[in-house]
Amino acid sequence: MNLPTEIRYRRYEDWTEAEKTKIAENVAKSPWHATYHLEPKTGLLNDPNGFSYFDGKYHLFYQNWPFGAAHGLKQWVHTTSTDLVHFEETGVTLLPDHAHDSHGAYSGSAYEINDKLFLFYTGNVRDENWVRDPLQIGAWMHKDGTIEKFEDVLIQQPEDVTEHFRDPQIFDYQGQFYAIVGAQNHEKSGFIKLYKAVDNDVKNWTVVGNLKFGSTGSEYMIECPNLVFVEGKPVLLYSPQGLNKTELAYDNIYPNTYRVFEHFNTEAPALTGNGKLENLDYGFEAYATQGFNSPDGRAFIVSWIGLPDVDYPTDRYDYQGAMSLVKELSIKNGKLYQKPVAAMETLRQSSEALASKKVTGNTYELELTVHANTTADLLLFADEAGNGLRLTVDTKDGKVILDRSACGEQYATDFGTTRDCHIAPSDTSIRLFADKSIVEIFVNDGEKVFTSRVFPAENQTGLIVPKGVVGTYYELG
Ligand code: FRU
Repeated sequence: MNLPTEIRYRRYEDWTEAEKTKIAENVAKSPWHATYHLEPKTGLLNDPNGFSYFDGKYHLFYQNWPFGAAHGLKQWVHTTSTDLVHFEETGVTLLPDHAHDSHGAYSGSAYEINDKLFLFYTGNVRDENWVRDPLQIGAWMHKDGTIEKFEDVLIQQPEDVTEHFRDPQIFDYQGQFYAIVGAQNHEKSGFIKLYKAVDNDVKNWTVVGNLKFGSTGSEYMIECPNLVFVEGKPVLLYSPQGLNKTELAYDNIYPNTYRVFEHFNTEAPALTGNGKLENLDYGFEAYATQGFNSPDGRAFIVSWIGLPDVDYPTDRYDYQGAMSLVKELSIKNGKLYQKPVAAMETLRQSSEALASKKVTGNTYELELTVHANTTADLLLFADEAGNGLRLTVDTKDGKVILDRSACGEQYATDFGTTRDCHIAPSDTSIRLFADKSIVEIFVNDGEKVFTSRVFPAENQTGLIVPKGVVGTYYELG
């Protein structure tokens, strides 16, 4: 939603209790609240931040402007989880309350160091002429949740970078801390800078160089770069704004992509071997994905279910955005697979054979197989007139299509109303999670993923399953 700058950048302390109550009351009125996905209490949720393991728990923050469905003065909101399924807000926030983050505590990462959580993030600073100074800054989060911001800037804007310089990700590679930061050069091409912590001191960073990873620079900015290691292979996840569609076909306003490599050269910084550019998600919205390697070596990712510069039907209820399920990464035959974490099964309340039915609450999981040489049309969020969210699994031509044109309130239709991906023309498995206004679909054990919002009408609570499709329906709670 478009709101005037003076509202979006009004200081947090200037919002009255009455105004905040009114916003919260409006949020509560929405018919589309998710039940098992993380949503903002109020306002806009965007990127996942500080996804980490610390003090025996997982930590996940989200970017938030709490006063409405717009991109305003951002804070980080803290949540913790023990199973990567249930996330609880702790009440801790990283506020834009310092001279070095005066116009927003923008995205970043976190890593446990000596019993404290190191937060590495972008301080968005603007001067009186609204000229931006992007600062990479840090803070400690202590076990009791108190946050201690560093007084010194960790990385200043380099000479070869415009004002678009943000989203530092810290990672440990062979016992050494590195960080990558998304950047734009003066020719308006996106790139990634690699830094190294001198003597492994996270208060002292030195540049290694511009990371080579096979990009042509057709994107004008790279947001939220993340490097994770999956079965020993470096996997780069990033959001290349403006990427030329001849390089990679995509339909969303901005894509979220990845490349699987063989080697990480930390001297003449480069990711090499393989490195094919791929879409991370084929749905209508998944962006700013953040990943991290947990201490046991597993690689987890989580995405913002939303996109920049898109208005959503929930905007009129003063909130927008949700966090995806957490997915564990693996590699099979050189391909990246994304699977919901194992503990998702703990949400299953009851199970029954898959069949057409009226579903109460639109909160369920489906597991099914479509055999080779079939075209199966499933209708989710369906009404009696046969409208709904259509999922077509075509194992003849090898295609999965998601069509939301006949389901509920339409939005962002300029970017089309269907999404699809290719699959091998053979038996195809589908695992699908529905949650009021969210669907996450995992094709062939996570070889392809569709993450999407959909805003069904009140009477769209049916599930229509074609004959011959066998599987299981689970009520989730
Ligand atoms: C991506 C992004 C980041 C930035 C943050 C600000 O969605 O634009 O690059 O740090 O959002 O909220």
